[in-house]
Amino acid sequence: MNSYYDKWNKIYRNYPLSSLGWELNRPRPILIEFIEKGLIKKGKMLDICCGAGTNSVYLAKNNFSVYASDISLKAIQYAKEKALQKKVQINLILQNFINLSFTNEIFDFVFDMGCFHHVQISDRTAFIESVKMVLKKNGLYMLTCFSDKNGSSWNHFSKTHLKQIFSEYFKLLEIRHYSSIEGDGIKRFFYTVLMKK
Ligand SMILES: C[S@@+](CC[C@H](N)C(=O)[O-])C[C@H]1O[C@@H](n2cnc3c(N)ncnc32)[C@H](O)[C@@H]1O
Repeated sequence: MNSYYDKWNKIYRNYPLSSLGWELNRPRPILIEFIEKGLIKKGKMLDICCGAGTNSVYLAKNNFSVYASDISLKAIQYAKEKALQKKVQINLILQNFINLSFTNEIFDFVFDMGCFHHVQISDRTAFIESVKMVLKKNGLYMLTCFSDKNGSSWNHFSKTHLKQIFSEYFKLLEIRHYSSIEGDGIKRFFYTVLMKK
């Protein structure tokens, strides 16, 4: 049966990485900032929807024990090449986030750059519950998603909406709004939310 999420492998197969908006070909500045400020302790982490692995490689280089999952085989292949090239160890997993199959309470940190905002509304609760389930007590969830400043859409969020969705599951530590010139040269607005289980 075709799934709403099948499109992703086609995107990675049909378009060069350099044309993909989210692929900056360098780690996300806000991730670097949070790591350098010591907001996120080293440990076992999941880069959920890792794409071509740019952030995963950065995290592995910074001594995290990295698990990285994505639904696209092509994206996983890119991430594997990148890890080999940069000589870092990443555990790459081809997996749909609606069937996360990790042991409960295994991760200290879940990094989500542009994953949650692609979760269908009907899958949202299950997705958030799975993320919470795989996090250890006091584990951190760092989410980056589209802001409603990009215009109105089902997957563009306001601060109020994000608080409403996530405060039921996590303690919200920081919410940051900012813009970024993305890989395709377009300026987009994002929220990053740092949360604690
Ligand atoms: C906007 S991209 C972000 C990629 C990466 N986090 C980055 O920042 O470069 C969204 C990613 O989500 C993945 N994805 C979409 N639906 C998925 C699903 N159901 N399960 C796992 N991964 C999925 C896509 O393949 C794609 O790599």
